[in-house]
Amino acid sequence: MMDDSVAKAREAIRDARSIAVLTGAGISAESGIPTFRDAMTGLWARFRPEDLATPEAFQRDPRTVWDWYAARRAQAADALPNAGHRALAALEEACAARGAEFILVTQNVDGLHHASGSRNVVELHGSIRRVKCFDNGHPASSWDPDGAPPRCLACGAMLRPDVVWFGEVLPGGALDAALRAAAKCDVLLSVGTSGLVEPAASLAFAALEAGAAVIEVNPAATPLTPHVTLALRGAAGEILPRLVV
Ligand code: OAD
Repeated sequence: MMDDSVAKAREAIRDARSIAVLTGAGISAESGIPTFRDAMTGLWARFRPEDLATPEAFQRDPRTVWDWYAARRAQAADALPNAGHRALAALEEACAARGAEFILVTQNVDGLHHASGSRNVVELHGSIRRVKCFDNGHPASSWDPDGAPPRCLACGAMLRPDVVWFGEVLPGGALDAALRAAAKCDVLLSVGTSGLVEPAASLAFAALEAGAAVIEVNPAATPLTPHVTLALRGAAGEILPRLVV
């Protein structure tokens, strides 16, 4: 049953002229980075997003929010890409070698796709490895480590992580690139995402509407599962290496 589905998925990927991949927190779980919604271990099971991941929360309590993201930034910096990340980098290489298009759209802010050698990566929710100022978006390459939060050298405003908070719009270019890729791919791989957060959650449906095959890799079912072409039940680090030929 599973081997059969994996064989079908491998074939669809091998024959595709254009592949889009959407990843979520699940692909980084095997690198020791907690997901958001897994019971008990997920970040949102332990913290209230409205207290930590909104512009209002930052204005209310900038120190707590800055420190929380500083801890997550250190965790991401210490984490290593796993076999799932590496398989996607290898798939990009294989696509380049045979002239097929490949794009990797991630909701993750941990930077592990870049760290594993992926190149054509769209960070829909920004990156925890980047910092900018709250008032004007001035990027900051260095900051006072004791500042909580530190201040922008250009305008003196508070610095914040360059990630998308709830209620904020996604980086324009990123969303357009993701929507374009979903509309023209032959195969969309949805890996390690619960499919609960928009607009990322709509990408797989846009691909289905455009006639693409959608392959889901996740140990658990999601709202997308009843609609996919193939559902591969398991961990990304185990399944993705079997899909790359
Ligand atoms: P979630 O935590 O909502 O979902 C993680 C998914 O990964 C679940 O469906 C798990 O079953 C699955 N999973 C767990 N371990 C896995 C493994 N080893 N391999 C494959 N899948 C695994 O995370 P996201 O869907 O990424 O946004 O959440 C979307 C957005 O919600 C995040 O980007 C963040 C969050 O709030 C913002 O903060 C804007």
